[in-house]
Amino acid sequence: MKPKLRIFPDREALAFAGAHHFLSIGQAAILHRGRFMVAFSGGTTPKLLFQRLRVTRMQDALNWDLVHIFWGDERCVPPDDAESNYRMAREALLDDLPIPAANIHRFLTELPPEEAARQYEKELQASFGLPDTTRPPVFDLILLGMGSDGHTASLFPGTTALDEQERWAAAVYVEKLDAWRVTLTLPVLNAARDVLFLVSGEAKAQVLQDVLAADEEVGKFPAQLVQPGSKRLYWFADCQAAAQVLISRRPQVHWHV
Ligand code: 6PG
Repeated sequence: MKPKLRIFPDREALAFAGAHHFLSIGQAAILHRGRFMVAFSGGTTPKLLFQRLRVTRMQDALNWDLVHIFWGDERCVPPDDAESNYRMAREALLDDLPIPAANIHRFLTELPPEEAARQYEKELQASFGLPDTTRPPVFDLILLGMGSDGHTASLFPGTTALDEQERWAAAVYVEKLDAWRVTLTLPVLNAARDVLFLVSGEAKAQVLQDVLAADEEVGKFPAQLVQPGSKRLYWFADCQAAAQVLISRRPQVHWHV
């Protein structure tokens, strides 16, 4: 699948475009299906999008009563911990939104990791109204960041969560961080109608080039395994992160510089 890469002059332009992409998908989801099911990501780049949504009247573009927010992954820390993705989203956006508390579906990281993953699957099944767990929930949009090692969500290179093809959520011990995480698995990420990667900064230049290079064996980087069946896979990057791609002038890139 040739991912669609849009390149922006800086992080601010990237965040602005990401916020517009988020809202346009949200409006279409509510129009066609009566609700918008979206999974947030952790990380500094996705945080920019949340802040952008908050500081302008963009937030009036959606009926937040019909928006349900989930997370692609979470650190196994208390919800008020400085490391928490949930806390980051609350401070960057959610505390300012007229969204019902029942529409915010965080990982219950007070539970042991494995239990938190199992509980989240139950939350997903109930929220999406699925009769069983044979088919994964179909998110309207999943926001993702990418680390310089090519991880996304909490799917890190060399971890068993990458091989999970049945469960919808997994508990992962990330050796290099010496920390437990919980994450959605590839079956859920790849069932989404739309997936948007947000990548910024020069530290991502090489890995973005590697991940997008069609000739790399697919699977070397976890981010490469995100291949939604809908084919609606978008990468938004700033010029710094796209520096190597710009040099390579790869034909599949849609330039928005
Ligand atoms: C997390 C994220 C993780 C993040 C990437 C990119 O919990 O940290 O889910 O996958 O998106 O590490 O983070 P930056 O945008 O901060 O580089």
